[in-house]
Amino acid sequence: MDIMARLCFTLLVLSSSSSSSSRSMVAMAEIVTHVFGDSLTDVGNNNYLQYSLAKSNYAWYGVDYAGGQPTGRFSNGRTIGDIISEKLGIQSPPPYLSLSPNDDAFLKGINFASGGAGILNDTGLYFIQRLSFDDQINNFNKTKQIMKAKVGQEAANKLCNEALYFIGIGSNDYVNNYLQPFLADGQQYTHDEFVELLISTLDQQLTGLYELGARKIVFHGLGPLGCIPSQRVKSKKGECLKRVNEWVTEFNTRVQNLIHTLNRRLPNAKLAFADTYPVVLDLINNPTTYGFKVSNTSCCNVDTSIGGLCLPNSKLCSNRRDYVFWDAFHPSDAANVVLADKFFSSFFSSAPAAAPAPAH
Ligand SMILES: *[C@@H]1O[C@H](CO)[C@@H](O)[C@H](O)[C@H]1NC(C)=O
Ligand SMILES: *[C@@H]1O[C@H](CO)[C@@H](O)[C@H](O)[C@H]1NC(C)=O
Ligand SMILES: *[C@@H]1O[C@H](CO)[C@@H](O)[C@H](O)[C@H]1NC(C)=O
Repeated sequence: MDIMARLCFTLLVLSSSSSSSSRSMVAMAEIVTHVFGDSLTDVGNNNYLQYSLAKSNYAWYGVDYAGGQPTGRFSNGRTIGDIISEKLGIQSPPPYLSLSPNDDAFLKGINFASGGAGILNDTGLYFIQRLSFDDQINNFNKTKQIMKAKVGQEAANKLCNEALYFIGIGSNDYVNNYLQPFLADGQQYTHDEFVELLISTLDQQLTGLYELGARKIVFHGLGPLGCIPSQRVKSKKGECLKRVNEWVTEFNTRVQNLIHTLNRRLPNAKLAFADTYPVVLDLINNPTTYGFKVSNTSCCNVDTSIGGLCLPNSKLCSNRRDYVFWDAFHPSDAANVVLADKFFSSFFSSAPAAAPAPAH
């Protein structure tokens, strides 16, 4: 069995054990997922960073979330991670910074993601505060210490080995670093040098997570960043930036090679690459196939190359389900549903539909 098939098999077993008919406490306790990433997966960590400018805890964020209130998610509704958790029949893991050491979440799965974060420390530096991928891994390291204190070293190791790790990071290394002409990295490095820096850093980071016990890791590749509204506005006629998409494709290919190398280098590692690029591109190119009307501009009409977050005084589109993009960077809740469905069915293909009703 190749790595991918093995991972799918593992996930399949996990997902079928969570199907409603056998949702015993034991089965529930088995699916532990940890999430690492940026604003595509942040569920509120940045709300706890006093000086961070990468925040979304104000209207209109959350307008389509349960209760209609902002939560720190960078969307009008749910993240892809929220929707996948619903499908797995588990709670969406809570933000790391919301937890106190007594919290159950230390044994059940945590979300470490932070808006504005990147693979590199200096990515998103103008947001003042965000948890870089290194910071997130350090926080997982602290989590492991807490787990050990709770259940002992052996059980903590086992929990870490059996958990699923979802990672989506790298978009900001482009959008809020390399593609910003006033920052050093875009001037200092050719793209070949920059992608080399990203990949060698990611190699150390994934190896660090492995050393902390992570085995089943799904890395989400980058989407076609050249087609997000904040990039399109830089072109003459609002089209996708071809060069940016070529760079992103290069990054994705290099990550796939890295994952292949790590699976050979690290005993029992089961890393997999989730190729989001073609899925997102198809959604953008053929919005009507998926029930959308607009994919070249955002519902909250704030398309600029810097800024681009929805603001309380922004004007929203009349039907939020018609738009693939919520703001200049982030997909709408409706688009996240499509993307989560595609991702879920490619990883959990022949599993019974383990999709209990949303908890809200
Ligand atoms: C980030 O900064 C820390 C502390 O200065 C350093 O140890 C680490 O190697 C840096 N990581 C990256 C990805 O630059
Ligand atoms: C985790 O923390 C310990 C103790 O602070 C440190 O020795 C170790 O290098 C850290 N591991 C990783 C992978 O960051
Ligand atoms: C989006 O596409 C539509 C239809 O092709 C076009 O009329 C409109 O001008 C485009 N909007 C932007 C912001 O590029």
